[in-house]
Amino acid sequence: MIVPKRLEQALARIRGDGTVGPSAEPGGGMAKLQDRVAVVTGGARGIGRSIALGMAREGAVVVAVDIDTSGTDDLTAEADEAASTIVLRQADVADGDAMKAIIDEAVGTFGRLDVLVNNAAAMEPWVMRTDVNVETTPVETWDRAYAVNIRGPFLAAKYAVPHMLKTTGAGNVINISTPAGFNGDVAGVAYSTSKAALHGLTRSIATSHGRLGVRSNCIAPGLILTEAALQNMSPEQRQARRRHRLVRRPGWPGDVAALAVFLASDDSGYITGQTIIMDGGISSVHQPWYAESAVTHPDMVEANFGEDLGEA
Ligand SMILES: NC(=O)c1ccc[n+]([C@@H]2O[C@H](COP(=O)([O-])OP(=O)(O)OC[C@H]3O[C@@H](n4cnc5c(N)ncnc54)[C@H](O)[C@@H]3O)[C@@H](O)[C@H]2O)c1
Repeated sequence: MIVPKRLEQALARIRGDGTVGPSAEPGGGMAKLQDRVAVVTGGARGIGRSIALGMAREGAVVVAVDIDTSGTDDLTAEADEAASTIVLRQADVADGDAMKAIIDEAVGTFGRLDVLVNNAAAMEPWVMRTDVNVETTPVETWDRAYAVNIRGPFLAAKYAVPHMLKTTGAGNVINISTPAGFNGDVAGVAYSTSKAALHGLTRSIATSHGRLGVRSNCIAPGLILTEAALQNMSPEQRQARRRHRLVRRPGWPGDVAALAVFLASDDSGYITGQTIIMDGGISSVHQPWYAESAVTHPDMVEANFGEDLGEA
């Protein structure tokens, strides 16, 4: 792995005495992931990119792995100086050998591994288009979704966790899922069930390796305004989400990044085995007719829906 010049300083610090101090007290102003090393899959765009930037801005060295690294020269260039510790690597997370090579190389280069973020998901148009229900979804679609969405995270964790334990005696796995992993949906049977398995993998790692020092958590975001998400949703689907959301604004990649940084830091040191839903309240306990209650509670409807909340 070629180490860009700007990484050399961080590398020297990491290798200095082999230790990294505890992260900051909340509000203490110190970078929360100073000189920790993170691997983020699907890190070239969308939520993964935001997580990579967020972690780098908190002092981490980030290896961003993506199947498609085209048009991403700006990932490191865009970053301000504090976030200039991102290395981009090309691989399909379903390719276990390639992922093992990248993880091994990252540890060989940076001397440690602290965080793994399993963010990549099978978003190819042919998968999204054909992943409907148990009757209609082709086996190839199912297999691709499972290869990327659950086999990939399993393999990455399988290769990353031993390095974490060996180099730091601790570790942190963060998986990115979806509320559909709890609820199912009218379409996306392979997507939602593979993400449900990711919830299980999260708990399994937390249980099997918690006492060894590894924490494992999962973030289940609702609609987050990424290009991919918007391309895959009709205006009607977006409107339905807007009508059932309890907060005034849509979700942004930075929302997920902020939670991922928190989960990767010592600030969340007492949290493990959890899947945290972040969906603007859509899945919280509110009446299913919340958005339809013009007849019974017109004042509430006016207060909540009278104002145009804008896109998505
Ligand atoms: N955006 C949303 O509304 C939303 C909602 C719920 C869950 N999620 C989850 O968030 C994650 C990211 O979604 P996004 O909206 O940022 O998507 P995105 O398409 O914008 O980004 C995904 C990135 O992953 C890469 N990728 C895809 N397949 C890969 C593979 N096999 N190996 C390596 N990299 C691969 C893509 O090239 C892309 O850069 C996914 O796990 C998705 O299921 C997103």
